[in-house]
Amino acid sequence: MRKKIVAGNWKMNKLSDSAKALFEEICAHSQQFGNVTVMVAPPSLYLAAFAKSATSKVCIGAQDVSAHNDEGAYTGEFSAAMLKSTGGRYAIVGHSERRSYHGETDALIAKKIRACLDAEINPVYCCGESLQERESGKHVQVVQSQINEALSGFSADELKTLVIAYEPVWAIGTGKTATTEQAQEMHADIRQFVSSKFGADFAKEMRILYGGSCKPSNAKELFSQKDVDGGLIGGASLNADDFLAIIKAAQ
Ligand code: G3P
Repeated sequence: MRKKIVAGNWKMNKLSDSAKALFEEICAHSQQFGNVTVMVAPPSLYLAAFAKSATSKVCIGAQDVSAHNDEGAYTGEFSAAMLKSTGGRYAIVGHSERRSYHGETDALIAKKIRACLDAEINPVYCCGESLQERESGKHVQVVQSQINEALSGFSADELKTLVIAYEPVWAIGTGKTATTEQAQEMHADIRQFVSSKFGADFAKEMRILYGGSCKPSNAKELFSQKDVDGGLIGGASLNADDFLAIIKAAQ
C-alpha cells in the first residue's frame, strides 16, 4: 500500500511573521497526521528556519533547486546538497510556473533530478498539459513525452525516491479542478508508462500526486482514486484549516 503524501507548495507567499505562524499552526497539529507524509515547501528564505523547528512529522521541501551540486559561481541559486545540509528532504522540480516563467526544459529538469538524487533529496517531478493540449486531445502524449525526456537517463534503482506530481496547467490556481475521472485516467496512464520504462514493481510503489485546485471540498474524492497517492497543494496550503482538512482527507 503506497503511503499518501500531502505537500504544500506555498509559492511566493507569506512575509516572515505570517509564514512562521502558519508553519507553527501546521506543526501543532502534526500528531493528527496519521500515516500521511506531510511536506511543506515555503519560499526558500524560510527553509532552514523551518527545518530547524519542524516536528518529526513535517518534512521540509524546496520549490526548486539548482541543476548544479558543486559549489561555485551560480548567483541566486542553492544546491540540493545545501538543502540537505539544512534538513530539507524534498525538492519540487519542473513546476509549470518555472517551465513557463524561466524556460525550464525537461533536459534541465533531468539535471535537477540528478542533483537531488546525488544529495539524497527526494525529487517531486511535476508534469502536466496546457488547456490547448487537453482540448486537442494531446494530454496523454504530452505528459508521456515530458516524463520520457526527464527520466530516461535514470535506472529504476536510482529513482526509488522519486515522486511524480501530475498538475494539469489549466487547473493550477484556476479553481477548475480536474474531475476524478480525468485525474484517475492520467495517473493510471502515468503509472502504466512508468511501468513500461522501469518495470511493474517500480511503478506499483511510485507515488503520483495530483495538483491543481485541490481543496478540502474535493480532496477526499480525488485521493480515493486508485492511482492518486495524495496532492501537491498551492492556494489551499496557505490556510492552516484548509491544509489540515486536506491532510485529513488523505487518511
Ligand atoms: O504546485 C501546486 C500548485 O501548482 C497547485 O496550485 O493553487 O491550484 O492548488 P493550486
